Amino acid sequence: MHDVKPTVGDTSWFTHDRFGLFIHWGLYALPARHEWVQFHERTPAEEYEARYFGRFDPDLYDPDMWARAAAAAGMKYFVVTTKHHEGFCLWDTKLTGYTALNTPCGRDLISPMVESFRNHHMRVGFYHSLIDWHHPSYPIQSIHPLRDHPDRETLNESRDLSTYRDYLHGQVREILTKFGRVDVLFLDFSYAEKGRNQWESERLVQMIRSLQPGIVLNDRLDLNDVDGGWDTRTPEQFMPRRWVEVNGQKVVWETCQTFSGSWGYHREESTWKSVDQLIRMLIEVVSKGGNLLLNVGPTGRGEFDERALSRLQGIGEWMRRHGRSIYGCTQAPDEFAAPQDCRLTYNPKTNRMYVHVFAWPFRHLHLDGFGDRVAYAQLLNDASEIPMSTSAPHESEYGAAGQNTLTLDLPVVRPNVTVPVIELFMR
Ligand code: GLC
Repeated sequence: MHDVKPTVGDTSWFTHDRFGLFIHWGLYALPARHEWVQFHERTPAEEYEARYFGRFDPDLYDPDMWARAAAAAGMKYFVVTTKHHEGFCLWDTKLTGYTALNTPCGRDLISPMVESFRNHHMRVGFYHSLIDWHHPSYPIQSIHPLRDHPDRETLNESRDLSTYRDYLHGQVREILTKFGRVDVLFLDFSYAEKGRNQWESERLVQMIRSLQPGIVLNDRLDLNDVDGGWDTRTPEQFMPRRWVEVNGQKVVWETCQTFSGSWGYHREESTWKSVDQLIRMLIEVVSKGGNLLLNVGPTGRGEFDERALSRLQGIGEWMRRHGRSIYGCTQAPDEFAAPQDCRLTYNPKTNRMYVHVFAWPFRHLHLDGFGDRVAYAQLLNDASEIPMSTSAPHESEYGAAGQNTLTLDLPVVRPNVTVPVIELFMR
């Protein structure tokens, strides 16, 4: 129907499941003022390490609780930062001592997380930073805490990119071999000074695909024009206007979004999105054929804070009754246009269309072009029938008839759910 560009990785489950949890967790949970704090405050690695590494002690960490909260929200996969730009590693890597195991935490945080999420039937993904502000061989350039250091050039003399590259490739090999099947890999990111040549992206992709043939790989290795160099596009904190295409062809895509702006735990951010906004965001994304990866930044004690939990719970309440309009769904065929204030999703397997009503109209919803295409209509939240007609008497009487219009006869009182959905059984 919509010919989406085929992928090398197995994206069939991915485009079915639609909704995942992003987790950004690292030492930056302690300063609690953005995961880029080391960069923003120009903190040298030794100083950053001295302040936070010896104090990282997530004593309340309970990955089963995390997985339960995510599963209850309706999420079907998770993607956790094995290492963010700060360079701190959450798993038992043999390639550096800068790991959770050598902090007061004293353990590998990734294995129990993977196990817990699998127990809750969620697929496993890793985010891994290409950038590294701790590794002694990572050259100092524009995106680095020491970018304005007066001795930058002298310092760079001892920083050999190929040593760092071996480390990067070695760590990617570790995370793809130590935890069984990995479903998603999210590498982050390339910029003017660091791209495919510096990372040796093509060699890296070959290794990734050979270690985990089904893996769904994102698009930040600077290989956008290389066939097989990526599976998904990743619009970040951004809502595409219609869908996502490359060279005129629709592609698999996933937007990643935060609750409040930063990815790591941020104590004082006050720009939290509401449950209502987040649910509309998820609907909007699926109506454009995409996935939503929604982020939580756990605290330094190892918990999801209450603002995150209450939102996950609110989303879950809606998803429990309306998941059918999300899972297995995609954008409606081009011949169907959404009526005013509505978003359409469509499940090609069941041949059902879902009308998400963002603003509840008074009594009638007119669906142009649907007149001879719908066999039955009901509210999704309670499976109550919605009477419908194709003659639209009021419309013709007052001279505003549409084309092949189906008129739904809605209850005057809006159903008491965050976003009401009408399920149409198509002919
Ligand atoms: C970015 C940021 C970041 C975050 C991420 C998520 O490029 O550097 O902090 O991890 O994207 O997509």
